[in-house]
Amino acid sequence: MDAREMKIKAAAAALEHVEDGMRLGIGTGSTAEEFVRLLAERVAAGLNVVGVPTSERTARLCVELGVPLKSLDELPDLDLTIDGADEVDGNLRLIKGGGGALLREKIVAAASARMIVIADETKVVETLGRFPLPIEINSFGQVATQRAVEKLASTLGLTGDLVLRVRADESLFMTDGGHLILDASFGRIPDADALASQLNAIPGVVEHGLFINLASLAIIAGPAGARVME
Ligand code: 5RP
Repeated sequence: MDAREMKIKAAAAALEHVEDGMRLGIGTGSTAEEFVRLLAERVAAGLNVVGVPTSERTARLCVELGVPLKSLDELPDLDLTIDGADEVDGNLRLIKGGGGALLREKIVAAASARMIVIADETKVVETLGRFPLPIEINSFGQVATQRAVEKLASTLGLTGDLVLRVRADESLFMTDGGHLILDASFGRIPDADALASQLNAIPGVVEHGLFINLASLAIIAGPAGARVME
């Protein structure tokens, strides 16, 4: 089974949790897009759901495939969010933001009664941190914010490079909210809870990719099929 087939398997298993009439948060990334494709087939067959997209990219795909959308302001209470992840640990703590949509993804997940993560086996880790942690920052005072993040990291015993994310053409990556992303290669993060809460206290940090106590279930696809972590 190749990587795409695993993503489709996880997405198909998540679709079984979707019921008629649900208000859905719809994630961002290649795995979430497989979910959108399968969801669109069910919508075309008569399933009645409304989605709130977590990025402009997801919104475009939903519109193209005919998945009905509303804004989070129109639907502030969601039944279920389905989204991918860059890393998942055994306590369903996540690193997200590889696609740069972490702010909207976190707002939408927090507005949902449940969040199901869909991923393949390569995303499962014992301790978070192999994937560089995306930190969304305001462009005003970016150097001061970066220094504050470095200082915090060192008090937590974390070292590693913080790199401002750029696009393929070397221009600065801007999020849908008009912010920058610092990718922090800390390596193993032994106390993700402490890092998460202390990052939130730095004024220039808009949001970070540590998702703690947000996922209710993870559907992990591997060569032998999909398994559930909860
Ligand atoms: C986007 C995300 C994605 O969910 C994450 O990067 C996983 O993406 P993919 O399914 O393409 O591996 O957090 O901000």
